[in-house]
Amino acid sequence: MLRDRAKVAVLVSGGGSNLQAMLDAQESGKLKSGQIELVIADRPGAYALERAQKAGVKAFEINRKDAEFEDRVLKAFDEHAIEVVVLAGFLTILSPKFIKHCGKPILNVHPSLIPSFCGAGMYGLKVHEAAVKRGVKLTGATIHLVDAVPDGGPILLQKAVKVQKNDSPESLQRRVMEQAEWVILPKAVEMVCRTMNRERKQRGEASF
Ligand code: GRF
Repeated sequence: MLRDRAKVAVLVSGGGSNLQAMLDAQESGKLKSGQIELVIADRPGAYALERAQKAGVKAFEINRKDAEFEDRVLKAFDEHAIEVVVLAGFLTILSPKFIKHCGKPILNVHPSLIPSFCGAGMYGLKVHEAAVKRGVKLTGATIHLVDAVPDGGPILLQKAVKVQKNDSPESLQRRVMEQAEWVILPKAVEMVCRTMNRERKQRGEASF
């Protein structure tokens, strides 16, 4: 039997609103070439785990402080035959060794138009504080593939969002999530999974 949905793992750290956008896209059929199989949080109490469980998706914590953290994550990917990895509000920087050994596409969502306001130390609200401080008129979100350089891999999708005169970092963060991140993340996951399925079919690979 040919498998027609790529198996997706999502790594999270916090509230999981980006995860929710993917779960909703799966529910509504917008994400149809991929199946969210597994959610892993890198810290205790991440609300994202509850969101996953509510949607019936296997979810658990592997603490980032565990010396075996990366090995345990890779083992979980193997155990669940994961083919695509999504970092969705995931705050741990993965090592070049992890990225090499993973051997699957890893997508990341970043809340700015890369190459602006990105790189080491630029995450969460800090990105929007920098954008407001610099006075840019346009910001947005980027979905890119992960390589060894933080926020440096090939760009898959971007969406711009206007900065308003009275924006605070918090109001801007919210609008970038609503108008950009939650829209383009499921789209990019669908794109990557669809390509993966097509290539698998062309190779005539079967799965049981
Ligand atoms: C936000 O800071 C967002 O801008 C960034 O990740 C955080 C959202 O995390 N990309 P989550 O998906 O709600 O956990």
